[in-house]
Amino acid sequence: VLEEKDAAEAASCPHAASRAHSLDAMPGPTNFPVFGSLVELLRKGGLRRQHEALIDYHKKFGKIFRMKLGSFESVHIGAPCLLEALYRKEGNYPQRLEIKPWKAYRDLRDEAYGLLILEGKEWQRVRSVFQQKLMKPTEVVKLDGKINEVLMDLVGRIGKINVNGRIEDLYFELNKWSFETICLVLYDKRFGLLQEEVNEEAMNFITAVKTVSGLAVILLAGTTSQFTRFTSAAQPKVYIDRKLKRNAVRAPDDLIGDILHHSSLSKKELYAAITELQIGGVETTANSMLWFIFNLSRNPGAQRKLLQEIRAVVPLDQDPCGEHLKSMPYLKACLKESMRLSPSVPFTSRTLDKDTVLGDYAIPKGTVLMINTHALGSNEEYFEDSKQFRPERWLRENSTINAFTHVPFGIGKRMCIGRRLAELQLQLAMCWLIRDFEIVATDNEPLDVIHSGLLVPKRELPVAFIRR
Ligand code: HEM
Repeated sequence: VLEEKDAAEAASCPHAASRAHSLDAMPGPTNFPVFGSLVELLRKGGLRRQHEALIDYHKKFGKIFRMKLGSFESVHIGAPCLLEALYRKEGNYPQRLEIKPWKAYRDLRDEAYGLLILEGKEWQRVRSVFQQKLMKPTEVVKLDGKINEVLMDLVGRIGKINVNGRIEDLYFELNKWSFETICLVLYDKRFGLLQEEVNEEAMNFITAVKTVSGLAVILLAGTTSQFTRFTSAAQPKVYIDRKLKRNAVRAPDDLIGDILHHSSLSKKELYAAITELQIGGVETTANSMLWFIFNLSRNPGAQRKLLQEIRAVVPLDQDPCGEHLKSMPYLKACLKESMRLSPSVPFTSRTLDKDTVLGDYAIPKGTVLMINTHALGSNEEYFEDSKQFRPERWLRENSTINAFTHVPFGIGKRMCIGRRLAELQLQLAMCWLIRDFEIVATDNEPLDVIHSGLLVPKRELPVAFIRR
């Protein structure tokens, strides 16, 4: 067995493959009988602090380590060279860790699976149908009108409901915003979640969002009753049926209408795929927006520079749109930097479908790999002054940042299918907000972060929106 430090060095990629060691030689926290490293992890603050514990382990054991929690064993990778190696060896149907409770729930109700849980050829078939529209920037940009429609409401609401600039439960407001947006995109339906008077149907949605917190619960610890509440409130079938019945000529921004009408997928498959797009797209986007707001509140210099860019590109009498974003490199750099410093999804996973050599280790088929976005983004080796918010690092000519150090949407064929939509939403949202409001920090105390599937602040965000 290699010594900890030797193993960490051996895992540096240039030596890869020449002398692959077995998994047993891989370093990692002490693996006690039965519980593995669970007790150690609990001592380090428990599952809610696992993102910090994992960074510590990467510091201690290097770019790759193994860990066992009870009977669950995983290999953690936090180096661009290893990610690149994994990407290059990726098969046609990459697999994430199984989400058993969500699968069981779908089985129980005789419902199909969507992209979050589909596997193999079935996954690829559904993915390729949605990918053609959702991963193509020239298609997704057509959604800017719908996104703006909801943003106008969000900005109006922030103006109305703030008390001395503070918004009570900003995260919930942002969840309503992202929910309203994704529903408009998927179903062409407004729910009025950002209105003062919310009707009963919309209220059910809000409750479902608030109590279930979508993706996080499904990925972590959903129960059948939570799933039932979520899916019965979020009635996708009804809205998809209504959309399918409309035979009128579709608007150019009706990407989902095109998919519904032209794909070879069955109705059951469409219901499942759309439900999971909705689940995948709400809290992730709201969470990234929350951190984007926070990071700009703590960096007034960057905010000023961003305002200048917005004012230079978007005429006062126009709404920001997809076309404007093409000339806004600083905005894009700000979003990238925010997602590096505060990624919403700290890690994703892959289950190896074949024996694979990564770094200096031969890793057997079936092993679960954890890809640690959070550890990559906070590693000084890849990002100098990694704790600082510096959008400029993404703009430098001849920037040496390795693309595999920044993977907030995952990697390869199975990366987030909503990425382009989320980026468009977040960039437009920030244009609207910064144009109307100065986002100020109401204190400068550290903000504790906890892991609840996504990384969330432990207290209400210390920010205020001051009208310009
Ligand atoms: C998958 C992050 C927005 C739908 C993922 C994954 C990550 C992620 C890390 C796993 C990728 C992998 O394993 O390589 C995010 C973040 C978002 C966001 C940070 C917002 C800032 C969205 C939106 C949608 C969406 C808006 C829906 C339109 C999905 C789906 C998958 C997924 C369906 C599974 C894809 C597959 O396995 O084929 N997302 N996501 N996400 N996301 Fe997102």
